[in-house]
Amino acid sequence: MARLAVLASGNGSNFQALVQALRSRESPARHECVLLLHDKESAYAAIRARELGIRAQHVAYHRRSRQDSEAELLAAIRESDVDVVALAGFMRLLSPAVVAELSGRLVNIHPSILPAWPGTDSIRRAFEAGERIFGATVHFVDEGMDTGTVIAARSFEAAPEDTLEDIERKVHEIEHCIYPNIVLELLDQADIRRRR
Ligand code: GRF
Repeated sequence: MARLAVLASGNGSNFQALVQALRSRESPARHECVLLLHDKESAYAAIRARELGIRAQHVAYHRRSRQDSEAELLAAIRESDVDVVALAGFMRLLSPAVVAELSGRLVNIHPSILPAWPGTDSIRRAFEAGERIFGATVHFVDEGMDTGTVIAARSFEAAPEDTLEDIERKVHEIEHCIYPNIVLELLDQADIRRRR
């Protein structure tokens, strides 16, 4: 069994999709999501964690240094003996020291086909600029903003009648499929390493 932690700031639909995929998989190597870390106290992801029975910890970023916040994040990850850390709508850039410690086991999901449309609010910005190709990318996290090595991506062409809301829904459907697939694979690999 390998152990997952998720970092989120908001809604947490990807967090929930990850947990459900872990729980529904019929496999001897059952992995577990052991921790949700959230930087916004009111993140809906924390409510989902409670309903899913997963420990949630609020790591404040206000009125303290980023270094202190990240020290708390890392301590929680170390204490939970986590193999893979998945960012799921975590709206903060992690410092190079954190990225280095978690190198190779820190992943993110982004709602565009990277390297197109990095950063926040990607779907809306792309839609308003007349982009027709949408999708989602899973990548390892490096020091940059959505610049790490791509692991998987899936795209679609928007239909002429698609509204922004239609496209958002389609992107999220893709996210909820490809992110669990990749995270499960990484957990399988971590599980094999644990058994050696
Ligand atoms: C997703 O679109 C993800 O790609 C991006 O932030 C959004 C988070 O959505 N990084 P949710 O909180 O998982 O519902």
